[in-house]
This record gives sequence, C-alpha cells and structure tokens, in this order.
Amino acid sequence: MLIIISVMPMVESDIIFDEFKEHSISEFFRKNRHMLGYSGKLRSMTTIIHELITNALDACEESEILPDITVEIKKLGTDRYKVVVEDNGPGIPPEFVPKVFGKMLAGSKMHRLVQSRGQQGIGAAGVLLFAQITTGKPLKITTSTGDGKIHIMEIKMSIEKNEGDIISHEIREGFWRGTKVEGEFKEVTYNRREQGPYEYIRRISLATPHARITLIDPDETVIFERTVEEIPERPEEMKPHPYGLTPDELLYISRKTESTRISSMLTKELSRVTTKRIRELEEYILRDKLLENYRGSSFWDMVIDCYLNINITEYLDKYKDYLDKNEIEEVKELINSLPESLPNLKIYYMKYLIMDHLFDKFDSEKINEIKKHFKKRPENFIEFAEKNYLSASLVDEIRKKIRNITKSPSEFVESLLNIGMVSNEEIEKFKAEIKNLLKKNPKNMTWEDAELIIRVLQDMEFMAPSTSGLRPIGEENIKKSLKTLNPEFLDAITRKPKTYRGGIPFAVEVGIAYGGDAGKISDNGKKMEIMRFANHVPLLFDTGGCGITNAVKSVNWRRYGLRSEEEVPLTIFVNLISTHIPYTSAGKQAVACSSEENEEIFNEIRQALMICGRSLEKYLSKVRREREEEQKKKYVLKYAVIFADGLANITNKPKELIEGKIIELLNKG
Ligand SMILES: Nc1ncnc2c1ncn2[C@@H]1O[C@H](COP(=O)(O)OP(=O)(O)OP(=O)(O)O)[C@@H](O)[C@H]1O
Ligand SMILES: [Mg+2]
Repeated sequence: MLIIISVMPMVESDIIFDEFKEHSISEFFRKNRHMLGYSGKLRSMTTIIHELITNALDACEESEILPDITVEIKKLGTDRYKVVVEDNGPGIPPEFVPKVFGKMLAGSKMHRLVQSRGQQGIGAAGVLLFAQITTGKPLKITTSTGDGKIHIMEIKMSIEKNEGDIISHEIREGFWRGTKVEGEFKEVTYNRREQGPYEYIRRISLATPHARITLIDPDETVIFERTVEEIPERPEEMKPHPYGLTPDELLYISRKTESTRISSMLTKELSRVTTKRIRELEEYILRDKLLENYRGSSFWDMVIDCYLNINITEYLDKYKDYLDKNEIEEVKELINSLPESLPNLKIYYMKYLIMDHLFDKFDSEKINEIKKHFKKRPENFIEFAEKNYLSASLVDEIRKKIRNITKSPSEFVESLLNIGMVSNEEIEKFKAEIKNLLKKNPKNMTWEDAELIIRVLQDMEFMAPSTSGLRPIGEENIKKSLKTLNPEFLDAITRKPKTYRGGIPFAVEVGIAYGGDAGKISDNGKKMEIMRFANHVPLLFDTGGCGITNAVKSVNWRRYGLRSEEEVPLTIFVNLISTHIPYTSAGKQAVACSSEENEEIFNEIRQALMICGRSLEKYLSKVRREREEEQKKKYVLKYAVIFADGLANITNKPKELIEGKIIELLNKG
C-alpha cells in the first residue's frame, strides 16, 4: 500500500511570525520622537525646556512653593547644546529618580483628576531619551528633599526594557532643596524666534505670574520677574463624576480600588455618589432590568402608558364636556362588559383605546362590532386594535410619556406589580441579583456589570461635578501680566467652570490687549497675536490644528470695531484649564475642540472672546468719538478766529477777548 504524506508548503504567516517581537513604549517613541515634539531643531529645544519647566512648576505648585526657576542654555558646538534647569521645588526622593527620568508612562499625575501641566508621565523620560539618542549621554540629576542629603545621579534608559539605570550616584551633605536637571543634546538650536525657548518662557511667565524664571542664554541673562507674590491655592484632586465615566474607566477603577464591594467602591471613588444614592441606584437598576426584559415591544409601551392613565374617572371627567350622558353610559357599559378573566393590564389597555380612539371616531354599529369581537376573543382584540387604530404619532407620544414615567423607578415598579404585569417573585429575583451585584468584589466586576451601572448612573440625577479644584490664573493676574505689553486697552475674563464629555470640569480664561506693544510685528506693521495656553502652559506649535486658534478665528472681529481681522495691534490670550485637557496628540500642542467635538469647550472660548470683544468695541468707539469731537473742535477753532474778528467789529470789543470766550465755550462743550 502506498501512503502519500503531503508536506504543507511554508506559508507567508510563518515567515511573518518568525519576526514577531514585543516592543516597549520607549522603543516606540525612539522611532516616533516627533510625536513627543522632537522634530526640527528649534522645536526640539523648546520641547526640552517645556518638559522640564512644566515639571518644576507642577512640583512647586503641589508643594505650595513660590517657584524660582533657572534655565541655562549653553552652546557647545554646531547644533549641540547643554541645558540646565533648576528649581526650588520639593525635590525627588532618590529611589524615584530612575523611574521619573528612565521610565515612560510613570508619574504621579496620569490617573489623578487634578489640574496640572503634566498629565501623561512621559515628559521627563522623553528628555532623557532625546539626550541619549542624540549624544549617547545620560542626564545628570541633582536633587534633595531638604533632608540634609543632596543626591547627584546620572541616569540612562534601557530603551528595550523601558527602565532607568543609575550610572552613578553620589551623596553630599548640605541643606538645599530642589531639583536640577542637566543634559547634552544634539540636533537642537537656540534663537529668540517665535517658536523658540525665549518666547516660550516669556509666555509661560505671563501665564504664571507668581513664578520667577531666569533665562541664561548664550547671549545674556534675562529675568522674567514675578508680578504676583502670593502662592496660588493648590489645585484640589477631584473624583470622577458619574456622568463623565465610561464602562472602561469604571472597570479600571474597579481594579485599582481598595474597596471590597462595588457599592462602597462607587461611594468612595466617584463624586456625588453617597450611600443614600446607592439605595436609589438599586431601584434604578431594578427598573432598568424590567425595561430591558421587555424592550422592543410596543405592547409594553402601551402598558406603561396605561399605567399613566390608570384613573378611569379622571378620564371620564376629561371627556365629559365633549360627550353626552348617553355616550358616557355607553363607555361605562363597555368597560363593565370586559370579562373578569381578563388580566388587569389588558383592561387598562382597552380603556386607553376606547377613550382615546374608538369612542369619538366610531358609530354605535362599529362599537358593537368591537364589543362582539372583544367578547369572543379578548386576547386577539389587542392585536386587532394595534393594527387598526394606533397611528405612528400616537406611538411617539406614548414613548414620550414612557420617558416621563421612568423618572420615578419605584413608582414604576409598584404600578407594574399592581396591574399584574410582573409578579412579586420576579421582582424578588431581580432584587436579589442587584444586591449580589453591588456586594460583589470590584476585582470581579465584568464588562456587563460596568455597562449596566454606567447606563443606570446616566439615568439618575446628580449635582453637576464639583469644579472647586480648578485654579484659574484670574482676571486681575492676567491683566497684570498683559500690562507688561503697555497696551492702550486691556480686558480679561475668567468664565465660570463648566463640564465637557458629561463630567470633565474645565474653565476658560481670555485676555485681550490692544495697542502699545500688543500684537505681533509683521512686514506690514502689527498683526493679531494669539497666545494659546492649556493649564497655564503655552502652546506654540500645531497652531492651525488647534481648537483654540479656530475658536479665535471663528469670531468676526470686525464686528467689534477692528479695521481688519488680521492687521491689528491685538494680543489675544486664551487659557483653557481642566483636570484633563483633550490634546490632539501626545505632543500636547493643540486642543481637540470644534463645533462638533468637545463643543462645550469651543463655545466657551467663543463666548469669553465675544465678551472681551464687546468691551474692546466700547473702548474703540469711545476713542473714535473723542477723535471726531477733537476734529470738530479743530474745525470750529479755525473759523473762531474769523468769527471773533467779525464780532469784534460789530461789538467794538477786543478781538482777543472774544476769541478767548469762544475757545472757553468750545472746551466746555
Ligand atoms: N522637578 C521635579 N520635581 C519634583 N518632581 C518631579 C519633577 N519632575 C518630575 N517629577 C515627578 O516625576 C513624574 C514624571 O514626570 P513626567 O514629566 O515624566 O510626567 P508628568 O509631568 O506626570 O506628565 P507629562 O508626560 O504630561 O509631562 C511627575 O509626575 C512628578 O511626580
Ligand atoms: Mg511633565
């Protein structure tokens, strides 16, 4: 016997999977460094400065320290620079130093709902990665928490493992507190152009009036002095609000929480959820389960509507003006003729149909026909009526009523029990399921559990999320900052906090400065300058793709008395603050908001701009009026001399005296 063994030829998937490997996040960013802002020599330099300054400011703010930051930029060769950033912040405990600078996605801010400049846990490690891949050198960190020990550490990154390695660690005695980061970088440059570190520091100091930042650049030392001496209140950490949560986020919380029951996790980890609200949640879940059980059945919709119209005497009362006594009697008779055997809910259903539709539409012959039909096969009657008498608009109306009724879940369940739609046993079964769900250990929470809880939380009414944790710069401080531009006119507004995506708090601040040094110098004089900020951090890149720019451009500035949209000596300052800024990418240079996406933010920016625009308009029209007045005066004065001459001739009084009186009159007017 011949046995043929066929050998399968090597297929492409084998070849592909031969090459299959896992990579670390650091490797990803080594290949895609532009995503972190390391593209172009000037932009890369600004990114280094930005990451280190924002970390210093965040650390000072959290520890309530008035920030004093020194940035030194030294040229070492073509495209090669040394950067040193030193702060007087709380310092970093030495065991955390390799994690802070050597590990991506490691930090203290990512999962906290607190307004801070950093939010991803990538910035510091990104700086080390860039130093390492352009010069091969480690970062040198000098830090102390003020405990008498100063740690001087050199850190490199094991890119494949996404881990920090300590190259050297020296400990010195001494009382100093803060962090100093030193690094050498290639493929970078320095100048004072618009997207460079100088402009970045100028802008960040405008948005951080309580910080002093000293820049020692290759040419000179510039101090951006603080204009405010008070330490701003520390931003408070906020818990997520039920409205802004997704099932995925709830599952994430369930894996992190220390609570041992889902119910206590909800009260502990979410804002506005109290123990009392958990009892309410149980009722809402019960209602949801019942509705889910029967969803999609129009018959069920009718039942709920019947419940609303359960009181037959009220119904008759409503109709009594339109009907004569006989007709009322006929209806009563009809209702009474319903067989006892018919379950309650069907009775109510009939009532509904009879009252609303049949009764003034049909003659007695038709009603009798229905009666006959009804007596014979009551169950079929429902189908019959549904097919023949219910219009689409009525079904719509009924659905609306259902939404109303679903507001009070306990009443709803009660009435279903009353009309016999559900049995006590069924309700008890559901209740037990709900109790078990809320007693469950959060670690065992499933996607379905999370989906159910999130769905039901959206049905409940909660107070708006707390916005007390947001810390704006403040109108007065923005004005103080913009005053440094010596403008003719200046205004600022801090809007009340709002929320986007259902529950994420944010607030918008806008300042405008007109005239003086405001605006951007261009070939044809001054141009409108837009200064964008997110959590007090200047955004210098990706201008066109940023929702803030688009919001500014969407305002018709001519309406506010400006000659042109572009060619104006105007600086517009917009600061968006939030516990989570919706950036368009990991580079954090543009905000994702438009009339379609995160529109709450877009609209708030527009509102704030328009309010400032109106006060600018008032100012400009006052200036215009004054100028016209002045013009008129000049014109009249020109004739005053001739006029005085004439009057002097007629009255025989000295010409100078009359001239003087006319000028006095003009000045009074
Ligand atoms: N100068 C500093 N002083 C004190 N702590 C610091 C300092 N720099 C960084 N840290 C700590 O190191 C963590 C990591 O910083 P990193 O810049 O990588 O991330 P982040 O600031 O949290 O977020 P992002 O990636 O958005 O900047 C910070 O969360 C903070 O806890
Ligand atoms: Mg950071």
